[in-house]
Amino acid sequence: MFVLTVLLATLLAFVSFLYYLLHQRMNYWRYRGIPHDPPHFLAGNLKGLLKTRSFAEILLEIYQHHRGTGPFCGYYLFQRPAVLVLDRALIKNILIKDFHNFADRGLFHNERDDPLTGHLFRLDGSKWRGLRSKLTPTFSTGKMKFMFPTILKVADQLMNAVEKRLAVDACVWDWKDMMACFTTDVIGNCAFGIECNSLQDPNAEFRVMGRKIIGSRRHGALINAFINSFPNLARRLRMAIMPQDITDFFLRVVRQNVEYRERNCVHANDFMSILMDLNKGKHLKSENDQLRALSVSEMTAQAFVFFVAGFETSATTMAFALYELALQQDIQNRLRLEIEETIKQHNDDFTYECMEDMQYMKQVLAETQRKYPIAPNLMRQAANDYMVPGHPKYTIKKGMMVTIPTIGIHYDPDIYPEPDKFDPTRFTPNVVKQRESVDWLPFGDGPRNCIGTRFGMMQMRCGLVYLLRQYKFTTCEKTQIPIVYQKTFPLFPQGGIYLKVERV
Ligand code: HEM
Repeated sequence: MFVLTVLLATLLAFVSFLYYLLHQRMNYWRYRGIPHDPPHFLAGNLKGLLKTRSFAEILLEIYQHHRGTGPFCGYYLFQRPAVLVLDRALIKNILIKDFHNFADRGLFHNERDDPLTGHLFRLDGSKWRGLRSKLTPTFSTGKMKFMFPTILKVADQLMNAVEKRLAVDACVWDWKDMMACFTTDVIGNCAFGIECNSLQDPNAEFRVMGRKIIGSRRHGALINAFINSFPNLARRLRMAIMPQDITDFFLRVVRQNVEYRERNCVHANDFMSILMDLNKGKHLKSENDQLRALSVSEMTAQAFVFFVAGFETSATTMAFALYELALQQDIQNRLRLEIEETIKQHNDDFTYECMEDMQYMKQVLAETQRKYPIAPNLMRQAANDYMVPGHPKYTIKKGMMVTIPTIGIHYDPDIYPEPDKFDPTRFTPNVVKQRESVDWLPFGDGPRNCIGTRFGMMQMRCGLVYLLRQYKFTTCEKTQIPIVYQKTFPLFPQGGIYLKVERV
C-alpha cells in the first residue's frame, strides 16, 4: 500500500511538473507583453491545420490581425513559442544583414535513423554552410545553359503527351498533375540522369513516388506535432518522419545510379555527378576541410531534396499561371504575342538567351508567385538572443523559431494594392525598383534563399513557352473559381486545376 501511495504521489508530482512546464511555455508571450492570439493547449495557434485551414490562411490571419503593432508578434507553433515578423526592416535584418544570427531553420533532421532528412533544407550549422557552398555551382548560369536542351527535350515530350490526350480524351483535365509529370521528368533527367517517363505513363515509378512524398506521412498529427515542437528531443529519441518505402526507393535509385556510372565511366554534367565527386572527396582541399566526403546516404538526401523541392513547387506554380491566364484572355494573348515576337527576333530559335529576353513572361510568373507563394512562409532560428534594434521590449531568444509570413506581405494592400487582383504590371522593372527586395519572397532571400531559383524559373518558362505557342487555355465547368486550398503547409490547390485546352 505504501509503495503504491509513493508511486501515485510520484506520478502526480511528475504530471504536475509537466503541466507547469507546458503552462509556462504556453504563456510565454503573455508574460512578456508581446501581442499574440490566445493559443490552444495542444495545437497552439495552428488549430484547424490539416482539417479546416491551410498554414497560409492561418499566417495571413495572424499577420493581418497584428500588422502595425510592432516589429513582430508572438504565436505558438504547436507548443513552441515562435516569432512572426511584421516589419520589413526586421525581415531584412533577419534574412540578410544579421544573417549570421539566423542562418539555421531549426527543423527536425536525424541523419542516423532517417537518412533522407539530412538534406540542405533541413540541415543547420557548419554542415549546411559547407554543403551549400559546394552545391551552389550546380546552379550557375553555365550549368543552366548546359541543361537547357534537356529541358526542351522533355518539353517536346510534353507536347506529345498533350496531343495524345487531345486525340483520345476530352479536352479538359487537371493541369497541376500534367505539370507535375513534366517537372518530374525534367528533374529526373537533370538531377538523376534518369528518364522517368511520367508524361508517357502517369503511373511511372518516379511519379508515384512524387505523389507519395507529397501525400503520405509516417505519423499522425499528434506525433508530427511533437516532432515539430521538440526536434532535438525527437532526434535523441531516434524518431523518423520519412515513410520507409520512400527512403528505400531513393537509396536504391541513387546506389544503382552510382554503380552504373562507375561501371560504365559515365561523367554527365549533372547534379548526380557533382554529388559523386563530393562522395569521392574530390572537393576536399586540405585535411582540415570543414566538409568531409559525403556518404551515399548523405548524397541520396541531397538528390532527394532536389527532386522534392524541384518538381511540385514549379509544377503547381505553372498550373496557377495557366489558371490566371485562362481567366484573363487578354494577358494570355499578350504573353503569346511576346513569345512569338521574341522567338522571331532570335531567328526562330528558342534559345536560353531568347528565354531571358521574354520580359512579360517574367512578370506573369512573378505575379503568379506573388499571388500564390507555394511556400507561404520562411523559417529561421535565432543562434543567440537578438534585441530588435530600436525596440528594447522585443527580444528574440536564442533557439527561438522565426517565421517570415511571405503570404502576409504578398497580400498586404499597402505594398500591393488590390492584392486579390492578378496584375503582371506590378512587376515592370520600374515598379519593382520602387519596392524593397523583401516585398517579394517566393524564393526567400539572403544567403539561405532557394538554391534552385534559376532552375525552377527555367523549367517553368520552357514549359509555358511550349504550351502557349500551341494551345489556348480557358476555364470550364470543372474549374474551381475561386481556388480552394488544401489544408496543408504548402499552398496547394484542392482537387487540381481543371482547364479546357484547344489548339491556337
Ligand atoms: C517555383 C519553384 C520553386 C520555389 C517556389 C521554391 C521555393 C523555395 C523557398 C521559399 C525556399 C526557402 C528559402 C528561404 O528560406 O529563404 C527554398 C529553398 C530550397 N530550394 Fe527551392 N523553390 C523552387 C524550386 C527549386 C528547385 C527547382 C530546386 C532544386 C532543383 C530547389 C531546391 C531548394 C533547396 C535545396 C532549398 C534549401 C536551400 C538551403 O537551405 O540552403 N528549389 N525553395
